[in-house]
Formats: sequence, C-alpha cells, structure tokens
Amino acid sequence: MSTKRKSKSPEAQVFKPDKKFAKTTRISSMAQYKRMWKESIDSPSKFWAREAKDLTWQKKWSKVLDWKAPFAEWFVGGKINVCENCVDRHADGPRKNKAAIIFEGEPGDRTVLTYAQLKREVCKFANVLEANGVKSKDRVIIYMPMIPEAAIAMLACARIGAVHSVIFGGFAVDAIVDRLEDSGATTVITADGGWRRGKVVPLKDNVDAALEKYKGVKKVIVAKRTGQDVTMKRGRDLWWNEECAKVPGTHKAKAFDSEHPLFILYTSGSTGKPKGILHTSAGYLMGTYISCKYIFDMKDDDVYWCTADVGWITGHSYIVYGPMANGVTQVMYEGAPNQPDFSRFWRICEDLGVTIFYTAPTAIRAFIRAGEEFIKPYDLSSIRLLGSVGEPINPDVWLWYREHIGGGKAPIVDTWWQTETGSILISPLPGCTPTIPGTATLPFFGVDAAIVDETGEECKPDESGRLVLRKPWPSMLRTIYNDKPRYKKTYWGDFKGLYTAGDGARRDKQGNFWITGRMDDVLNVSGHRLGTAEIEGALVAHEAVAEAAVIGRPDDLKGQAVVAFVSLKGGKTGDDALLKELRNHVGKLIGAIAKPDDLHFTPALPKTRSGKIMRRLLKELVATGNVTGNTTTLEDPTVIDNLKRILGR
Ligand code: WT7
Repeated sequence: MSTKRKSKSPEAQVFKPDKKFAKTTRISSMAQYKRMWKESIDSPSKFWAREAKDLTWQKKWSKVLDWKAPFAEWFVGGKINVCENCVDRHADGPRKNKAAIIFEGEPGDRTVLTYAQLKREVCKFANVLEANGVKSKDRVIIYMPMIPEAAIAMLACARIGAVHSVIFGGFAVDAIVDRLEDSGATTVITADGGWRRGKVVPLKDNVDAALEKYKGVKKVIVAKRTGQDVTMKRGRDLWWNEECAKVPGTHKAKAFDSEHPLFILYTSGSTGKPKGILHTSAGYLMGTYISCKYIFDMKDDDVYWCTADVGWITGHSYIVYGPMANGVTQVMYEGAPNQPDFSRFWRICEDLGVTIFYTAPTAIRAFIRAGEEFIKPYDLSSIRLLGSVGEPINPDVWLWYREHIGGGKAPIVDTWWQTETGSILISPLPGCTPTIPGTATLPFFGVDAAIVDETGEECKPDESGRLVLRKPWPSMLRTIYNDKPRYKKTYWGDFKGLYTAGDGARRDKQGNFWITGRMDDVLNVSGHRLGTAEIEGALVAHEAVAEAAVIGRPDDLKGQAVVAFVSLKGGKTGDDALLKELRNHVGKLIGAIAKPDDLHFTPALPKTRSGKIMRRLLKELVATGNVTGNTTTLEDPTVIDNLKRILGR
C-alpha cells in the first residue's frame, strides 16, 4: 500500500496583504520578495554581504560562507561583539533615551529601561562576571524568572564571550543537573524566586538542590526578586545588587570571531537525553536581526511584545537578540496570562500601545476557551501585526486571532522555525505575502526548503512528506554541544546533503508550506500516514472543541488505532451523541481512516510549561494504564490522575 497520501488543500480563504500596510513596509510586493529570495539563493554572498552591512563589525569578514557539510562557518574572518550590536550602538546613538524594555511583573510592578540604562546595567554585570573569574568560552547557566536581569545576564555573557545556557524557570532540579553536567558550567546566575500565578517559584532553592549533585560550580549570582529567605553559601553565593555596586558602569566590548560560541540551549530529542543546541555569534545575530526587520517589520515607533519565556529559543531570538539588534521598544511580562484573569495581556496591550504581538497557538486557544468578555473591554487598535509560533495554527484559531486580537485587519505571520534553526525560516512577509489560515506560506531569504519522500526525492505538489532544508543558513545550529556524531546523524543523516527538520509537511501548488507536525507524532493506520496534528486540527475545527490531542495505540488489524483526547469549550462535558458527531466530523474533514477509534473527553490535556501537549504521556497511559516516564516538565501534574480516572484505571 502506498504511504503517500494525496491531501487536498482545504477550501482556503486567501487574505491579500493590506494595501495601506504594504505602503509603509520594506517589502511591499511579491515581485520584490521573489527577486530578493532568488538572489539570496543564487548569489548568497552578494545578498548576505549587503544585509550584513546593517550590523556593527569590529573587523569585516573576508568570506560569507565556508561549507564543509554538515559544518558551516559564516562571515569567516570577521570579528563582532553581539552585545555591542544589541545595546551599545543604540545607547551611543539617537536611541539613547528610547525605552528598550518595559517590564511588568506579575504582581503589577513596572520598570522601564532605556537603551542607555540597559547599557550601564549590562556593562556592570559584565564587570561582575569578569571579577568573579568568568572567561571567554566558560559556560554560564542562567535560571531566572522573566525579569530584565535575565536579558541583562545573557547580554553580559555575550559581551565577554562566555557561553550562556538558559534553563527555563519552570524546569525542576533534575533538568538543571542534566544541563550543568552536559555543559560543564562553572557559574550559575539565578534569582531568589519568580512570580507565577501568585506563587513564588523557588529558583534559588532548586539551584541549591542541583548543586548538591553537581560540584563544578564556583559562583552563584543571585538577583533579588521575590524577597523570601534563601540560603546563601559563603564563598560561593553572591547577591547581584551587591556585586554590581562594586564595579563601574562601563565596559569595553571585545571583538570575537564570527564563529565564537554564543549559547547552548537544550531541547528534547527522540531519546531521553536533551540535546545541547550550539549557536554561534555573527550568523545567529544576522538571522535574528534580519527576520525581525522583514518579518516583524520592526520600526522605530513600534512597541513589540513576544510573550515567550527567555528559557526557550523564542525568547532568545525574539526577545533578546533580534529585537534588540533592531533597537526596538519591547514589553517584557513576568507572569501567567491568566493572572489575575484572562484580561491581563489585553490590558497590557492597551496600556502600553503594543503594535506587534507574537504568541503561540496554545495561548490563543486558551483565550478562545476563556471567552471574549476578557478582551472586549480593551482597545487593541494599536496592534498592527500579529505573529504565531510553536505549532501549526488551526485555521479557525487563526481566524479568531485576526478577528478578536487583530481587529479584523492585522496581518498574521505564522512563523515556522526550530531551536535548531535559530531564527524564522518559513513565514509570510506582512506587506506582500497572501496568507491562508493554517499555512506558514513561503521560505524566508536564504532558505531553500523542500518536501521529500522517504527516499529523499522531492514530493509533488500537495503530496505529504518530510520538510528538509537544502542549503545552510546563517543562524543554523553549528553542532550538538560535545556531540558532533549525534549532530550529523540527527539532522543530516537521513538524506545526503539535506537537513531534516523532523516535521511532516506538504507544499501546495502556490508553493505554500503546510506544516502538519512532528514526524515522531505521525501514525500509520492501515498503511496510511496520518499526522496526529491533522486529526487534532479536524477536531479543533469543530465548534464544540477547545483542544485535542491524538496519539496512536497498537492495533492488531490496522497497525495503529487513533486515540483522541478532547477538551470542550466552556469546560463542558461531552456525551455519546457528541462523541459520534466528532468522529463523523473527522471523517468528513480528512477521511474515514482518520476517525478516532477511541475518544475521551477530558477537562485538561497534559502539557509542558511551554504549552506543548505531552503525547508521550498519553501514549503511555493508554498503553499501560500508568505513567512511569519523566513528568518533571508537566505544567499541571494533577492532569494525569484525572486522565486515569477518565480511562477507568
Ligand atoms: C517545532 C520546533 C520555533 C520556536 C518554538 C518551538 C513546531 C514551530 C511552527 C509553525 C507549525 C511549528 C515544529 C518545529 N513549529 N513553529 N509556525 N507551524 N509548526 O521551538 O521547541 O524547537 O520546536 O515546533 O514542529 O519542528 P522548538
């Protein structure tokens, strides 16, 4: 039986770019996009040489790319300081007194840092790091709440050539130990605690517990945020403010090679051990800078807000490095979107006049479920551009986002990328690309994306396959830290010369990429390949459904059977009639083959703190009735017991 399934594009609604928007933007016609894209592919040296002029170099590079597959070096021979590009060049110029960060804490406290103030804080902290023995290429763990000090710590590391590795503040002790060990870190930067849903996250306590197991850390620098008592170990632990008071507010930004390591960010792979994705300096900066410039269309009067956490790649690329390289004003918010209730984001948007808003579909679905009464009282008319990232966005969620947050007019950029790609690779350009709900549309500059079948051959239009990249790009990962063989095998091992993203996708006749989800979540039902995301999309497209997770379970007859977990809008509970209706609904949208064999209604799905549904746990629950695997990344651990009850275990 063929494993290729022809998937028809849905009756798609095309949104042409707004003419008024196009007039003010840098790329205002498809002809211009196509010309630039072609140049970026055919003459990358010419294209990148021109774009790289926007950055501040301490020494100009001599060669744009040195490619010894699968190892790339970009802007070879150049010397650059990433921090200088994000801070000094604004602080020392006309943006001196412009707000760089408008911070709002979960309790409601607010701080504004201008670029000049940011520079002073970053310089001080760079001095603190150096005074405490941190040297170029040393690894520094950053485990902090979403407060300006997190960005300052990252930028200070970049300034002195130290390699930061940020651990999401929601991770527990074991995750910290894994990362400390793998990176061989000597310094930890943390805070006493952070605010989340009105409670203190005990960050310093977690660090203390981790350092019982890992002995390589010499200094722990602790920012004061929540003010509760913490244990400070003499000789090892230092208060951020006390250390900063001892040093000057100036610091010379040294020149580092273009390929100097900038950071390691851990991400989960197919095995249990997280992969340390290594990014380097000039190419990464180029990628994050240029994507902000053209995709987010950043201008001097914008107020930009990305709701991600700095602990994820989105926070690295689209809170710290990209927006700051563009000298934009941005909002940084510490807490949960529903603290004290689901109007929090919209009050901030109105209050600060947010113009560009970037969030994840999972958050949007939570807002849909919460109800429009939390949005209606607020004036969101300042918003001119919306972004989505992290997973495929369901068309109805896309339409809701545009209507209720974008005032029925703001373009949506559905941005596809990964921790490994460093910056956005597939996305509309808001002033020219016709958008269709559900597709990330077209490749960005320098990106040669394609869909291939299991033999590595390019698929025909509308045929489902694997998403690959055929050329290196500036912000690509350089390796997995300390594991070149794993880097080669994981990303370049499937097909010669092709980077495998691990995502399933298809390309329509217009060339738009429809990402259907991770290939690891793909089911094989009676020899047909079915994306779990596709079935989930179908379920969510039903008016009663808020969220859905689909997994496979072994089935003697079909190979795999489809199991769906569904939560309903307004917290409703489902009945047999709705169950039947949903099965038929999926059958109608995708085909009978995709109809869930089992369908369970549940008030909540198991999710990571970043909002990803943990299908692994659902699979285990369904297969064994229990969960034995790692659950430390679960957002709400009580979900599992609830599900056991629902499954009658
Ligand atoms: C995976 C990468 C990229 C930053 C956040 C997640 C999925 C991401 C989209 C999108 C469809 C998307 C892919 C990708 N993904 N953006 N716009 N449409 N899928 O980073 O944890 O490295 O995850 O997220 O499956 O491979 P990450």
